[in-house]
Amino acid sequence: MSHAEDHEGTRRDFLYYATAGAGAVTAGAAIWPLVNQMNPSADVLALASIRVDVSGLEPGTQLTVKWLGKPVFVRRRSQEEIDAARDVDLSSLPDNSAENANLPGGTDAADSNRTLDESGEWLVMMGVCTHLGCVPLGDAGDFGGWFCPCHGSHYDTAGRIRKGPAPTNLPVPVATFVDDTTIQLG
Ligand code: FES
Repeated sequence: MSHAEDHEGTRRDFLYYATAGAGAVTAGAAIWPLVNQMNPSADVLALASIRVDVSGLEPGTQLTVKWLGKPVFVRRRSQEEIDAARDVDLSSLPDNSAENANLPGGTDAADSNRTLDESGEWLVMMGVCTHLGCVPLGDAGDFGGWFCPCHGSHYDTAGRIRKGPAPTNLPVPVATFVDDTTIQLG
């Protein structure tokens, strides 16, 4: 394993385990939204439905919350990310299904069928690679979205698989805005 791969693996593991407790607040600004969200983790982890405060998210950033034992990515996309995701020929997608639990089966993978709002700013997905279950890294990969270093799967800025062994897009769970700054999962 190269040094770079080793570094990525370490970071991934840390991000994942940091959701289990609030003991890592010194880790830096990038980690803070995650830890902040997780303060009540012991209580919320058992719930089928949780609410996520997204008021602190700037465009072009995301946070990861743990829900039903799995990481969930909540990203507030920049206009550049939205434009990139919408400028894609759907026939070029390995999986042209929205994979969105909020929409009927058979809905295509157009960017507008992946996001929570009409403007396309908010994208919520399970943070679990559809190949063998690793946690992909954000702001990474050949398509500017997510990259799974385990076996090299590249997801675009809508979380759609574009290259590599993963068979399907990152799934969008049941999610909705309950007010301007709160997303409910489940
Ligand atoms: S688990 Fe992600 S590419 Fe294999």
